[in-house]
Amino acid sequence: MNVHFVIIFLLFIAVDFSSSLKILGVFPYCAHSHFSLGFRLMKELADRGHNVTFVSCYPQSKPIKNFREISVSEIRGPIDETKPSLVDFGKFSVWSQMNWVSALGELYTRGVLSSKGVQELWKSNEEFDVVVIEHFVNDALTYFHKRFNCPLVTLVAGPTTMFTNHMAGIPILPAFVPNILSDYDSKMNFWERLDNTYKQVLGEIFVRSVHVPSQNNILREFFPDAPDLRTFLYNSSIFLICSHTSLSDVVPLQQNIKEIGGYHVPPPKPLSEEYKIFMENATQGVILFSMGSNLKSANFEPEKKRAILKTFSRIKQKVIWKFESDLPEKPDNVFISSWLPQSDILAHPNTIGFISHGGLLGTTEAIYHGVPILGLPTFWDQKKNIEEASRKGYGLKLDFENLNEEVFAAALDELINNPKYSTTAKERSRIMHDLPMKQIDEAVFWIEYVVRHKGAAHLKPAAVTLKWYEMYLLDVLLFLLTIAAIIFYVTKTVVKLLICRKKTFVDKNKSD
Ligand SMILES: *[C@@H]1O[C@H](CO)[C@@H](O)[C@H](O)[C@H]1NC(C)=O
Repeated sequence: MNVHFVIIFLLFIAVDFSSSLKILGVFPYCAHSHFSLGFRLMKELADRGHNVTFVSCYPQSKPIKNFREISVSEIRGPIDETKPSLVDFGKFSVWSQMNWVSALGELYTRGVLSSKGVQELWKSNEEFDVVVIEHFVNDALTYFHKRFNCPLVTLVAGPTTMFTNHMAGIPILPAFVPNILSDYDSKMNFWERLDNTYKQVLGEIFVRSVHVPSQNNILREFFPDAPDLRTFLYNSSIFLICSHTSLSDVVPLQQNIKEIGGYHVPPPKPLSEEYKIFMENATQGVILFSMGSNLKSANFEPEKKRAILKTFSRIKQKVIWKFESDLPEKPDNVFISSWLPQSDILAHPNTIGFISHGGLLGTTEAIYHGVPILGLPTFWDQKKNIEEASRKGYGLKLDFENLNEEVFAAALDELINNPKYSTTAKERSRIMHDLPMKQIDEAVFWIEYVVRHKGAAHLKPAAVTLKWYEMYLLDVLLFLLTIAAIIFYVTKTVVKLLICRKKTFVDKNKSD
């Protein structure tokens, strides 16, 4: 009897061991939103018995089973210093916006590679079955998969952009795929398509001629013997992207790209007493107001703050505002806190609206819980997210630059009193939840799949091996143009000759 038990027990252990993977998760960017993407996924993998090593900026206070952390929190200071300049981001040209983001990438990629924890990991003789990296202007970090000689999974905190398209072998299709820095959805008129083409082409040029070379230099700095970045940058087995058709339009996705947008939203937890009482007393509903983890409401100009507070003092609803300092002049219906359980508040049935900067994760959470959005976009993809929300009817947009009491009050009134926004947000929410498999299960599935198939080379598109001029058939075009030119030239010469001949023939006849 006992012997049987022992054998079964040993078998169980053996099976368990063979299915437990060693996974390295690299999510080093210092913004809580990016961290939470990595943490949600890596913790899930650890909960399922995998052995996880997680590189991030925000080490947890409590130890977690199967979960080892490597902190790069020393880069938080320099990154936080760059954040105030985000307010002016919208005023930059497209090229400068890309430059700003690429320089941010340079700054923190260097920080990650020089951090103590990462250096130790690099020199250790650890082994991993797979490396999962959040690709956010940190291309040099793909060297991790070369170092540990294992497959690479790339996670993108949104739809793919100029920074990832070339890595995944996605061609630019400006006719109906809007650029991340545009404020269109996929239905563009002629002028929008013209502008979108300009931005898409510029993006492609920027990434290939400025961004990748700069990341290659960083690689050289830290690893003088490393091969050129471009020899392994295109080796990612799979791209997990945080977009979803409930939020944005249909775009072509190749089989190496899996949409898992919404996976990061955790199951709602009960709110603390403080929030619970405030929210349950809000018979007319609660508006949540948060500008995310990068932009601080406390840094708003005084007139803007005043306009916002005045508007809030006039509405019947209660407001929860992520505000990072004291606010003595706030009216009674406003509750402020420097940190909020955002997703849990959005999940509360009394929440009727979300005033937001329009970051992708917040937007995703709002739609996950069916809450309409009033957007004040400033940075990177926010304009586009909010433009899509307003074109699709689950949100409204406001120009943050020109925010005053009049426009803010009118927009808030529209959000609260026009049922269209809430109805559409709820419809979109049902779409987000109606899936054959939960997003988080799908994310885990594909990571395990990549290991099971030793890098899943069969999913690699030939596009990543093409040169840019081959990808866009410029060589074929050049060839065809050359042939056409030759044919034209030959025809012209022959016709000329014939005319000449005829002329001489006629002339000869005349003189005869
Ligand atoms: C690409 O990744 C695979 C593992 O998925 C590895 O065996 C191969 O050496 C890598 N190729 C390059 C060029 O780095």
